[in-house]
Amino acid sequence: MNPPVDPHVEAGPSSAGPASAAGLSDSAATSASQSRWLLETRGITKRFGAVEALSDVNLHVAPGEVTALLGDNGAGKSTLIKCLAGIHEPEDGQMIWDGNPVRIRGPKVATGLGIETVYQDLALCDNLDIVQNMFLGRELTNNRLLDEDSMEKQARQTLAELSVTTVRSIRQLVGSLSGGQRQAVAVAKAVMQNARMVIMDEPTAALGVAQTAMVLELIRTLRSRGIAVLVISHNLNDVFKVADHIAVLYLGRLAVEAPVGAFDQQSAVYAITTGRFESDPIEASKTVQAIE
Ligand SMILES: Nc1ncnc2c1ncn2[C@@H]1O[C@H](COP(=O)(O)OP(=O)(O)OP(=O)(O)O)[C@@H](O)[C@H]1O
Ligand SMILES: [Mg+2]
Repeated sequence: MNPPVDPHVEAGPSSAGPASAAGLSDSAATSASQSRWLLETRGITKRFGAVEALSDVNLHVAPGEVTALLGDNGAGKSTLIKCLAGIHEPEDGQMIWDGNPVRIRGPKVATGLGIETVYQDLALCDNLDIVQNMFLGRELTNNRLLDEDSMEKQARQTLAELSVTTVRSIRQLVGSLSGGQRQAVAVAKAVMQNARMVIMDEPTAALGVAQTAMVLELIRTLRSRGIAVLVISHNLNDVFKVADHIAVLYLGRLAVEAPVGAFDQQSAVYAITTGRFESDPIEASKTVQAIE
C-alpha cells in the first residue's frame, strides 16, 4: 500500500516541505510570490471546547479550478469553510490569500477579499423576489431612492452571463423557484459581488437530475471566468464531473489533496472512510468492499 499523499506544498522561502508528491507540475512548484494558489491555508486548527474539529489543515485552492472538499460526516468540512468565510476564527494557523497572509476576522473581511459562500440553506428570503434577494443588504440607490432599474439590469445581466435561462421573471418570488433555480440565484448573488472564490456547501444535495446538471454547469461557468470554486459534496458522481482538484478531510485532518486524475471513485471512498490514499484501484476496491 502506498503511504498517504502529502498535501501540495510549494517550494520556496516559506515552504513547509517538498513539492507535492501528487502530480503538481514543476511550474506550479514555484516561489510564494508566483504561487498558483489563490488561497492557501497553513496549519489551520480549530477547536470547539475539547473537540479539535480541524487539526493542522493545509488546503490549496487555485483560481479557475474547481476544488472538491470531501469527507465523512463530522470530518470538519463545514468548519473549514466557516473559517474561510469569517464565521469561525481558527486558534492556530495561517491563511494566505493571493500570496499575502490575511486574518479573516468576520464575514465582511471575507467578502472584502472576494470570498463568497453559498450555504446549504442558501440564506435567501422566500418572500422577496429575485432582484430583492440578489441585492439584499447591498441595495443600489439613486438620490436616496432604491434604483430598481439598475438593480434589475444587473441582476438580469448576471443571470444571463451564468446562462441561467429557466427563470421566467426576475421579479418572481424566490419562494416559488425550484431548488436548482434558488441555487442559481444564490450563486448569481455571490458572483455579482465580484467574487474571486465561491464556496458551495452541498449545492446539489437536495436537487433532482436536471437541476443538478444545471448547478454543475453553473460551477463550470464560474471556473471558466477564472473564479476559484470550493465545493463540498458527498456525491462522488458530481465531484468527478466537475472537480479539477480533490481534498479529503478525515477526522479534522487533511488526509490527501491531489489533482482529480490521481483518484477514481474507489480511492476517493477509501480516502474518505480511512483517511489514507490508495492509488492502486484493486487494493482500494478490496478495502471498500470490506467496509461495505
Ligand atoms: N459550533 C460547534 N460547536 C461545537 N462543535 C462543533 C461545532 N461545529 C462543528 N462542531 C464539531 O466539529 C466537528 C466537525 O463538524 P463539521 O460540521 O465541520 O463536519 P462536516 O464535515 O461538515 O460534516 P457533515 O458532512 O455532516 O456536514 C464535529 O465533531 C462537530 O460536532
Ligand atoms: Mg457540513
